[in-house]
Amino acid sequence: MKIIFAANFSQTSNEWLDALRNAMPECEIIAWDESTPRTDAEIAVVWSPSPSLLVREPNIRALFNMGAGVDALLSLPGLSDKVSIYRLEDAGMSAQMAEYVVYYLVRASRGFDHFERAQQQEKWDKTPDIQRDQWPVGVMGLGLMGAKVAEVIASLDYPVAGWSNTQKNIPGVESFAGVGQLKQFLQRSRVLVNILPLTSETSGILNFENMSLLISGAYIINVGRGGHLVEDDLIRLLEVGHVSGATLDVFRQEPLPQGHQFWSHPKINITPHIAAATLLNQTTQQLSNKIRDFVHGKHVTGQVRHGRGY
Ligand code: NAP
Ligand code: GLV
Repeated sequence: MKIIFAANFSQTSNEWLDALRNAMPECEIIAWDESTPRTDAEIAVVWSPSPSLLVREPNIRALFNMGAGVDALLSLPGLSDKVSIYRLEDAGMSAQMAEYVVYYLVRASRGFDHFERAQQQEKWDKTPDIQRDQWPVGVMGLGLMGAKVAEVIASLDYPVAGWSNTQKNIPGVESFAGVGQLKQFLQRSRVLVNILPLTSETSGILNFENMSLLISGAYIINVGRGGHLVEDDLIRLLEVGHVSGATLDVFRQEPLPQGHQFWSHPKINITPHIAAATLLNQTTQQLSNKIRDFVHGKHVTGQVRHGRGY
């Protein structure tokens, strides 16, 4: 069985190839790029592959994504319902996501920036104790990532709500669902954590109108996709002080271009799309199990619904 490996993890490709070859010794794993002669493989392991992949390899009938978000795959030229897409299911990502969100939430709610500045001036400068009821957190997206994030934040006694397509029952997390409950959800939230998939319905959801509904002094944490955020709307809300700060891990253009206004903004923290990395061992194991199930005609979990977009 031939399997194409088409992932733009350039610096670590060889490590991934070795790991996949070790996990599936029965398969021929082909490192693919646009110059590779046609392989006629039916399976590809991918992360943001070249847009020509399905055009040059029309026999592909299953894409196994090396991440949770499949937005880059659903726009591939040549994609049809005949090509099944399987997403990575957690594989060690949700714990990382929870750590990331808690770190930036706590920096904001406990004012840790203040103590860093005070240390530089050798000042013993206490601030008022935290009042958690002033820090209601809203998590957009309660899937494999969002549910874990919301649970962990709830365990720290912050008031937490989540927003998703369908109603959820997560202990300690108030559930809001659908467009009809979005306004209510935003109006009760001060820290807004976005972990939605990027779809036609969620694109630009972090816009002026929605972010204006948050409690004043709001804080935005965007770990979904750059396409969720209307960049100039965030800047406007930071300028008027309605939003007090933001942590951004994902951007419309990645890497974030030099000179972009976000880099030097005093109220924005930037990380280079690392909130939850694809981990080599867990991912290789999960992908090889999925591929074996697929090859043997068994049910494969994590199948993406093309029409829904996630
Ligand atoms: P998931 O399991 O598919 O969960 C998606 C969640 O979003 C579900 O709760 C879903 O609601 C909700 N949702 C989707 N469309 C919606 C809409 N129009 N309105 C309201 N709720 C909607 O995905 P996941 O594994 O949690 O990952 C989520 C996203 O995180 C990925 O797509 C990716 O963009 C991002 N991500 C980023 C990083 C990073 O390092 N920055 C790492 C991993 C993932 P239902 O549950 O009701 O269907
Ligand atoms: C990372 O962004 C992912 O979608 O896994």
